[in-house]
Amino acid sequence: MIVAANWKMNPALAAAGVLARALATQAFPHIQRILFAPHPYLVPMSVRLSDGDVRLGGQDCHSADSGAFTGDVSASMLRDCGASTVLLGHSERRAAHGETSHIVAKKAAAAIGQGLDIMICVGETKAERDDGKAEQVVIDQLRVSLPAQVPASKISVAYEPVWAIGTGAVAAPDDIAVMHAVIADVLEERFGAEAVPPILYGGSVNAENASAIFAVPKVRGALVGGASLDADAFARICSAASRRAESGIAER
Ligand code: 13P
Repeated sequence: MIVAANWKMNPALAAAGVLARALATQAFPHIQRILFAPHPYLVPMSVRLSDGDVRLGGQDCHSADSGAFTGDVSASMLRDCGASTVLLGHSERRAAHGETSHIVAKKAAAAIGQGLDIMICVGETKAERDDGKAEQVVIDQLRVSLPAQVPASKISVAYEPVWAIGTGAVAAPDDIAVMHAVIADVLEERFGAEAVPPILYGGSVNAENASAIFAVPKVRGALVGGASLDADAFARICSAASRRAESGIAER
């Protein structure tokens, strides 16, 4: 199980330091935690996380390693600032920055080339769901966003229905199950049944609904936005994941 915090363009630096110290001083067995921090915070957060087991990631990277790309950051810069992973293709970047799945694949290849792990986000809009296209949209996004040469061990996928992000309208367990099964099929086709990378759910995950989401088949964690800015709420989500992971181990 993976529980990832996507702080997006939040919070102020002082509050970020407090949150990161809370992350570093807590421990949750059987799960991996990741913090996707704003780029200027990577170095200060890497210092605050240095004595814990939380991995640090960037929220985006450029596909080139250097060059005349004002305002962008490269995968090697993320790595040099303490990141070991990067979030790619978030719907907010797809919508606000015109990021296509082809661009995501190039960024993913660059990140893998620099030794970073990648978490690729996919998810349909409300209109696409209402049109009955949710599954096809997500299949197409995922197939195109995955670069050609990529080991399964370097990847995770976050299914984030756009309409569930920041709205409180969490997807229903049955809908999550269907979409995770569809994503798992694409990944199985690509990597084989024994090497399907973790698939996380994201979109209005909070301390109250986390256990129910983690009980859905093929859900291997959560990508958390708003609730990751509240140390207590995020810790409760991590506890729920830890309990789910423990029961999974017991079942085996
Ligand atoms: P919320 O948890 O605020 O809905 O955000 C989800 C998200 O976009 C995480 O990447």
